[in-house]
Amino acid sequence: MAGRIEHGARGGALVVGASSGMGAALARQLAADGYHVALVARRGDQLRALAADINARAGGATVAGAYEADVRDFDAAPALFARIAREGAPLRLVVYAAGVMPRSTTGADFTDERDIMAVNVLGAMRWLGLAADFLEHQGGGTLVGISSVAGDRGRPGNGAYMASKSALSSYLDSLRFRLAPTKVRVVTIKAGFVATPMTAGLKLPRGLTISADNAARRIARASEHGHGITYVPGVWAPIMWLVRHLPASVVARMPG
Ligand SMILES: NC(=O)c1ccc[n+]([C@@H]2O[C@H](COP(=O)([O-])OP(=O)(O)OC[C@H]3O[C@@H](n4cnc5c(N)ncnc54)[C@H](OP(=O)(O)O)[C@@H]3O)[C@@H](O)[C@H]2O)c1
Repeated sequence: MAGRIEHGARGGALVVGASSGMGAALARQLAADGYHVALVARRGDQLRALAADINARAGGATVAGAYEADVRDFDAAPALFARIAREGAPLRLVVYAAGVMPRSTTGADFTDERDIMAVNVLGAMRWLGLAADFLEHQGGGTLVGISSVAGDRGRPGNGAYMASKSALSSYLDSLRFRLAPTKVRVVTIKAGFVATPMTAGLKLPRGLTISADNAARRIARASEHGHGITYVPGVWAPIMWLVRHLPASVVARMPG
């Protein structure tokens, strides 16, 4: 937890899963774009260091605040969300970036699989659901979920992670339909390979892997102008079209 966020020109942005990787890079990008940012994740030290750095770059103004929380604590979310909305600049943008991909899920460790669903799906439903109601009541805003190309088609290995991202993408589709008559936009980010702590140690194809900062710039742009599904980077749209249409016999031989 930490400091009060002052009101700013672009309004407030909440990033859930802001302590590392894409969420942290996006928080920096949004602050640079003029948002005041509320940062949520479990690692309070990382959040406070990030908030301090963002505030220092803003010339000492308080434009970022840290809120330590575990998204699996579903019952605590409404009070924390209300507190962030109360303390921060008027909330315009809510991004759910929290996610886990334990390495052991190439097999079937149910504890890990349950955790994946709790963080990647149920946490997203909790926070984006609260945010949807809030923004609808307020009269507008943007919801963003960081999903993955992994959710576009089940492939061998990592089934729980793929299932979690399919569920998140479908949930975001549903929210978009529900909120279509309102001024709340819903943006689904389907990210490809991004170099972050989540993928550290994995052998990712260099030509298809982008940095967290690169991804954050694309996500910030989509958050501002998008309405629907944005592949990050865009080259994944034709790749995943192809993967969705491949015969099962080919998919069976693909890496997870
Ligand atoms: N990297 C990729 O190639 C890739 C590709 C497609 C999609 N994605 C998705 O992008 C999102 C960001 O991942 P990343 O690659 O940037 O990895 P990352 O650096 O590991 O970031 C994951 C974030 O989720 C937070 N988080 C995890 N469990 C949490 C919990 N129980 N409560 C609160 N926060 C929690 C982490 O914070 P704490 O640990 O401090 O809680 C961290 O801030 C994830 O949803 C991931 O699935 C990643």
